[in-house]
Amino acid sequence: MIQEKIKLAAHDVNLWFGQKQILKHIDVTFPERKITALIGPSGCGKSTLLRAFNRMHDLVPDARIEGRFLLDNTDLYGGPLSATQVRQRIGMVFQKANPFPKSIYDNVVYGLKINGVPKEQQHEIVVRSLQESYLWEEVKDELNKPAVRLSGGQQQRLCIARTIALRPEVILMDEPCSALDPISTAKIEELILKLKEEYTIVIVTHSMQQAQRIADKTVFMYLGEVVEQGPTASIFNNPQQELTANYVHGRFG
Ligand SMILES: Nc1ncnc2c1ncn2[C@@H]1O[C@H](COP(=O)(O)OP(=O)(O)OP(=O)(O)O)[C@@H](O)[C@H]1O
Ligand SMILES: [Mg+2]
Repeated sequence: MIQEKIKLAAHDVNLWFGQKQILKHIDVTFPERKITALIGPSGCGKSTLLRAFNRMHDLVPDARIEGRFLLDNTDLYGGPLSATQVRQRIGMVFQKANPFPKSIYDNVVYGLKINGVPKEQQHEIVVRSLQESYLWEEVKDELNKPAVRLSGGQQQRLCIARTIALRPEVILMDEPCSALDPISTAKIEELILKLKEEYTIVIVTHSMQQAQRIADKTVFMYLGEVVEQGPTASIFNNPQQELTANYVHGRFG
């Protein structure tokens, strides 16, 4: 069997907000160019874990983090990378599409400008990013339209375009389809499957069907701990822990 390469990992991670411990001894790995689903009941710490990989707790004064987060073999905290560099290499897409109050074009070009991408390259990257996020055909004639006038599903694909324009290595997605209808959801799932040819993807989802449709690996969390992780088919069809079985069979959560 070919050993899969680990792209992103957390080792013995603990996280507190004030006195309250939210993440407990998290050990988790995300294989390169695969899709990993993060599942578990509301409040178990999925978003908190995802955000930690993106250094989003840096500005939360009462957040305290212990343990190691690794991208390839580079520490995300306390190593050579600034938070900005971490966020350039690890992009994030949120539950609620959050386009900037700017035009479609400006949403995608914004990060390129900030990151000093030469002007003559910007246009091509914008077009390519919109094509890769399957939005191009729908918006190519109205790139100056305000992004907020797009549909919810289109806005989410725009946020994905904005993220991939910066050529990250990893894309973290926190329930990217939860506000979308089934057709928009299917489009995003198709897009995610396509993106994994180039990117390592971690997706938080409450949909057991979605996890089974798209994820190569699934990680089940409960009360701040990782209970079980493995190939998606094993987690759903042959879980080793009773908690996992109860959750994936809808007996709680
Ligand atoms: N900034 C914060 N300060 C204090 N507590 C927080 C903060 N952010 C999250 N929490 C707490 O951390 C716990 C885990 O929250 P988190 O959002 O990670 O859960 P989740 O698994 O993503 O849930 P859901 O499925 O509902 O999105 C919750 O008890 C939440 O109240
Ligand atoms: Mg969440």
